[in-house]
Amino acid sequence: MRHFRVLPDGSVGTSLRGYQLMKSPFLNKSLAFTHSERETLGLTGLLPRAVMTLDQQVELTYKQFEQQPNALLKNIYLTALHDRNQVLFYSLLTRYIEEMLPIVYTPTVGTAIQHYSQEFRRSLGIYLSIDQPEDIERAFDHFGADSDEIDLIVATDGERILGIGDWGVGGIDIANGKLVVYTAAAGIDPRRVIPVVIDVGTDRDSLLNDPLYLGIKHKRVRGEAYYAFIDRYVEVATRKFPHALIHWEDFAQSHARPILERYKNKICTFNDDIQGTGAISLAAVLTAARLTKMPLSEQRIVIFGSGSAGIGIAEQIRDAMVREGLTPKQAQKRFWCIDRPGLLIDTLDELRDFQRPYARAHEEIDHWTHNKQGSADFLEVVKQVKPTLLIGASTVAGAFNEVIVKEMAKHVKHPVILPLSNPTSASEAVPEDLLRWTEGRALIATGSPFDPVSMNGQKVIIGQANNAFVFPGIGLGTIVTRALRVTDGMLVASAEAIAEFMDQKKTGSPSLLPEVKAITNVSKAVALKVAEKAIEEGVARIMPDDLEKAVSKIMWTPSYPNIRPV
Ligand code: NAI
Repeated sequence: MRHFRVLPDGSVGTSLRGYQLMKSPFLNKSLAFTHSERETLGLTGLLPRAVMTLDQQVELTYKQFEQQPNALLKNIYLTALHDRNQVLFYSLLTRYIEEMLPIVYTPTVGTAIQHYSQEFRRSLGIYLSIDQPEDIERAFDHFGADSDEIDLIVATDGERILGIGDWGVGGIDIANGKLVVYTAAAGIDPRRVIPVVIDVGTDRDSLLNDPLYLGIKHKRVRGEAYYAFIDRYVEVATRKFPHALIHWEDFAQSHARPILERYKNKICTFNDDIQGTGAISLAAVLTAARLTKMPLSEQRIVIFGSGSAGIGIAEQIRDAMVREGLTPKQAQKRFWCIDRPGLLIDTLDELRDFQRPYARAHEEIDHWTHNKQGSADFLEVVKQVKPTLLIGASTVAGAFNEVIVKEMAKHVKHPVILPLSNPTSASEAVPEDLLRWTEGRALIATGSPFDPVSMNGQKVIIGQANNAFVFPGIGLGTIVTRALRVTDGMLVASAEAIAEFMDQKKTGSPSLLPEVKAITNVSKAVALKVAEKAIEEGVARIMPDDLEKAVSKIMWTPSYPNIRPV
């Protein structure tokens, strides 16, 4: 039992009283409880006499936040606030979103995850252990929500957290971090979500040898037993909460794609690392296509680093080209993908399955200069292809060097360059260099955040390909229509929404992606387009007459509800 229920008028009824009530982060108002609430809810005498407004509480907590000496302690401070009083937490977070997003989400959440077992305070999610598969059912029961009370479940197995690898049970904090962004950006009701960690062990020796490690202490279970556990989780979660979007977060490459393929046509599900990444990159590309007035289907795209992100991005762009009228084969022909051996061509031995559709026919490069592997190097590809768009997902710092960039810039007026590798130290290029080498002509978006660059007397804002611009809106659009699936069309729609948003703003600035401070408006725009697409494609279970109104209505905003004793 959750001991509270949201009533149709938005107020909340609860059977809890006194300290028990103040222990619930969804009910607690702390010093903002009015005297009459204190009277009816058994709080008289349990708080100092003063009554504070939410604004005053935000001011006070911001001062406390500022006093924390480093990012990790700031994260711990905010997490404690989140676990104590969610309205206050989200009021603070949304007011200082630019400053606090990097603390509650990437990069600082990564540090918090590394310290999870030492800093454990309390749990707010569900912990599933592969050694007790029969407990999945009870874990969801104990969470205490009714079947229509949950919209979103974010689960991770903690194997590939951000760029820091396997952190086992600490992964629950990435599920939490993701949910925080869903709420802060798109108003997903924090009372209607569940973070889940699917603990199948860890391969990190330092955790296995740590007596304080809180997860299962054996190597990761893999293979059939792993998938059987995932199947069981999905079966229970979707049976108990049939309206919930099932989000997969930070699974290793080897599991992420098979899991998505297994479920994407059966349930309402989404993988941010694959689909969110593809969508935000596509958004940058669509904005670039608008700015350069060259349709996507005519762009010549070179991808440097054809791993899971590089090819995932190619697939998303290809889908969008197909929507513009190309066949999938024609669309694939617009790409030249490079990996360690050079250009991917069909005769290379080391081609991986997911790269194969993008390999060029070897005859195409008969007259090019060949490298040792019989393929062509990066510079040769740029010389021959004359790309309009260059995407980096290789983690090779500085790969987009002066020679490459100047060669590209010889052939196109506005070279579109997206060095997407993270962290900053792995970026294929630094925006300032790109602008300098191209006399300010390059259109840039990066994976890591970069400061604006002064160029020709103008401040150029560097858009960051941050998934946080897409996944919250995709979630909101899916939830408002109670969509049965998250379709490829809905993903493309999310990217189109951002490109349109950038266009509408007409700031005159050539930025390819929005600034963090616009995140709520962006999420709303994304949600609308995604919901429209869900309806158009026939996967919506709810079709509101006035979609805009419906989206605004379900967006939760941090303000204290009336709390009524029941
Ligand atoms: P991955 O390891 O699957 O892919 C990297 C690829 O680059 C591999 O195929 C590797 O062989 C290739 N590579 C390495 N050295 C190379 C070289 N010298 N020349 C050509 N190719 C080379 O990793 P994943 O997951 O694809 O991520 C790659 C990068 O993209 C990471 O830095 C990641 O943080 C970033 N990324 C950025 C996103 C964003 O901005 N929203 C989203 C997802 C990933």
